Amino acid sequence: SANKIDEIKKAISSYPDFPIKGILFRDVFSVLRQPKIFGLLRDVMVEHAKQLQPPVQVVAALESRGFLFGPLIALELNVPFVPIRKKGKLPGMTRTVQYSLEYGQDAFEMQEDAVKQGDRVLIVDDLLATGGSMSASCSLVNAFGAEVAECFVVMELSDLNGRAKIAANVHSLIQYD
Ligand code: PRP
Ligand code: HPA
Repeated sequence: SANKIDEIKKAISSYPDFPIKGILFRDVFSVLRQPKIFGLLRDVMVEHAKQLQPPVQVVAALESRGFLFGPLIALELNVPFVPIRKKGKLPGMTRTVQYSLEYGQDAFEMQEDAVKQGDRVLIVDDLLATGGSMSASCSLVNAFGAEVAECFVVMELSDLNGRAKIAANVHSLIQYD
């Protein structure tokens, strides 16, 4: 899949000084504009998720750009997809965890019945920056007594060393330094 990943990386546009000065913004939506490239990305993600052992039982993804990819993977694995959303967006009983990100601070929630104790959960997002969002998501999943099978991201900003914050395995398809 190395050739496919090269093609996907070439399709990702970068925007200097967005949304604030000093940030080089990697725009994953540029992949979704090209159905052929989006298809390659789906294939690589699904192939990777399918070979994880023991098998993934639930796919969770982070609002908002994790939602572009998590459901594709969950459907192919024939397992539930569950959302990790910013505070106040999910109905019913929820659990909450605070987090900080590259620019700003917020809280994440999951629904109480989204995962069960012992579930092996694959957590999906578009990008790992400081790791604040992903480490908070791991804490949230662990608060249910569930296990993080892997933290999967399309893109990783390696210089920020976000993976050092995360106890679970982290897998990225594309790295930027
Ligand atoms: C971005 C990105 C990740 C997170 C990574 O989302 O999609 O979820 O930041 O940053 P971190 O590793 O430093 O935590 P953002 O918070 O901009 O939310 P959005 O997807 O809803 O726009
Ligand atoms: N791209 C997309 N999302 C982000 C980035 C980025 O470079 N940094 C923090 N969130």
